[in-house]
Amino acid sequence: MRTTPSVAETKQRLERTGQQHLLAFWDSLDESRREALLEAIVQLPLEHISSMLSQAASLARPAAADIRPVRPYLRNMADASKYRAIGDDLVKRGKVAAFIVAGGQGTRLGWRGPKGTYPATPVAGKPLFRVFAEQIMAAERAYGVRIPWFVMTSEANHHETERFFDDNRWFGRPRGDTMLFAQGMVPSVSLDGQVLLEHAWQPALNPDGHGGSLKALRQAGAIDHMQASGIEHLCYFQVDNPNVHVIDPLFLGLHVAAPDSSAEMSSKCVLKRDVTEKVGVFVKAPRLTVLEYSDAPKEIAEARDASGEIVYGEGSIAIHIIGVEFIRKLTDHPLGSVLPWHRAIKKVPFVDPVSGQRTDPAEPNAIKLESFVFDALHEAESPIVLRTDRVEEFAPIKNASGEDSPATSKAIQVERAVRWLKEAGIPVPCHANGQPDCVVEISPLTARSPEDLRRTMQGKSITAGTEVLL
Ligand code: UTP
Repeated sequence: MRTTPSVAETKQRLERTGQQHLLAFWDSLDESRREALLEAIVQLPLEHISSMLSQAASLARPAAADIRPVRPYLRNMADASKYRAIGDDLVKRGKVAAFIVAGGQGTRLGWRGPKGTYPATPVAGKPLFRVFAEQIMAAERAYGVRIPWFVMTSEANHHETERFFDDNRWFGRPRGDTMLFAQGMVPSVSLDGQVLLEHAWQPALNPDGHGGSLKALRQAGAIDHMQASGIEHLCYFQVDNPNVHVIDPLFLGLHVAAPDSSAEMSSKCVLKRDVTEKVGVFVKAPRLTVLEYSDAPKEIAEARDASGEIVYGEGSIAIHIIGVEFIRKLTDHPLGSVLPWHRAIKKVPFVDPVSGQRTDPAEPNAIKLESFVFDALHEAESPIVLRTDRVEEFAPIKNASGEDSPATSKAIQVERAVRWLKEAGIPVPCHANGQPDCVVEISPLTARSPEDLRRTMQGKSITAGTEVLL
C-alpha cells in the first residue's frame, strides 16, 4: 500500500518542480485538510507538467498541402448485407461490448446533474442513460447474448452517476453487466504553468478528456476483464447523442472484415451540412486524422469539387469501434497512454496563493489539458471510416438553446421516428405543408429499426395531433 509522503518530502518535491505555492495555506489548515492536500499533491504529475504543456503548445497542425480527402464506406453500399451478417455473428459470439464516455463537465448544457441524467426524449422525457440502456437491452434480446456496458464517469460525477443507475435498478439489466469507473484528472494550470488552487486545501483539476478513456479502461481493469471474457471490440459513443446506434452490425462487420481494415479502430462520419458547420472532419494527413474545425485552413474547410460537393466533408460524430488489443497496445506507456495533450485556455476560479482571495476570473486565466480519443486513429494500422445518415444517427445535445440543443435533438429524434414509421408502411398524419401532425418517440425496446416496427405496429395507426410513445 502506498503511504502519503510527509509534508517535508512534499515540500522538497514542490521546490524541485517550482510549485511551492500549493502549500501556501498549510499553517491555516486543520489536520484533515492537510491530509487531503498531501494526498492530492502526491497524485499530481508535477514532474511532467512542463513537458505536457510544451507538447500541447507545439502540436503540429497539418499543412494544407499535405491534406487529402478520405473515402468512407457508405451505409447503403452494395455489400452491406454481407458485412452486417459478419457483425451480427460477432455480437452473437459475445465479442462486443458497449462503451460510453460520460465524464465531461457538460458546462454548455448547464444541467444540474451528470449529463446522462438529462431528460432527452421528445415524449417520455427519458434520461439519456436510459435511452442507451434500452438500446443495449434490445440488442441483448435480439441476439440472445449479454452485452457488457462500460461507463466512464469522472471524479466530479461518479457518485451521482452510480446513484442514478442504482435508483433506476440498473435499468433492468443485471448489475454485473455494467461497469462504472472514473477517468483521470489533470491539474488546471495558470498561463505561466503554476497549478491553480481551487481551495486552500485542494488543487484545481479537470477531467483528462475523452482520450483519457483508454487509460482509464486499462487502469480500472476493464481491458483485462474484457480479454478474459473474450470481448474483442468496444462500441464507443458519447453521452450526448440519443440517436446513436450503440450496436451497429454493419459498422462492426466493416471494422473486422473490410479489406483495408486492421480492426484496430474505425469511425463513423456524416456529411457536413455546409462548409461553415463547426465540426471536425476526417482527412488523410497522410494518416487518418480528425482535423478540428478551428485548425482547418480556409482552403481546406471551404474546398468544393467541380460538381460543387464539399471535398473535406466527412464530419466526425464521435462514434468509433476500438479493438481491445489495440487499447492495450496504446496504454503500454509510462504515462498511461500515447495520446498527445491538447490545451484550451479557459476561466477557472482559483484562490490567490498570496492574498488568499478566491477569484472568479472575468478573462480566461488557465490552461486545461485534455487528450482526444480520435487521436488514437493516428496510431491505428489502417483505420476505416463509415459514412452514415445524419438524422438516423446524430441528434447531439451540447448547448442549452440554439444549435445542438435539447430542442434540436428532439426534432431530429421525431424526424427519425416518422421516417421509420413511413418506411414500415405506417401512415403518419401530416399538416397541409407536409410536416407531421404528431410527436412520436420509439423506444429501442419496441423497435431497433423500421423492419422491427413493421412487425410490432401491424394494423396500428397514429392519431393526428397526438404525442405517441411507441
Ligand atoms: P464534450 O466535448 O461535449 O465536453 O464531450 P463536455 O465536457 O461534456 O461538455 P462542455 O464542453 O463542458 O459543454 C464529448 C463527450 O466526451 C465526454 C463527455 O461526457 C461527452 O460524452 N468527455 C469529455 C469525457 O468523458 N471526459 C472528458 O474529460 C471530456
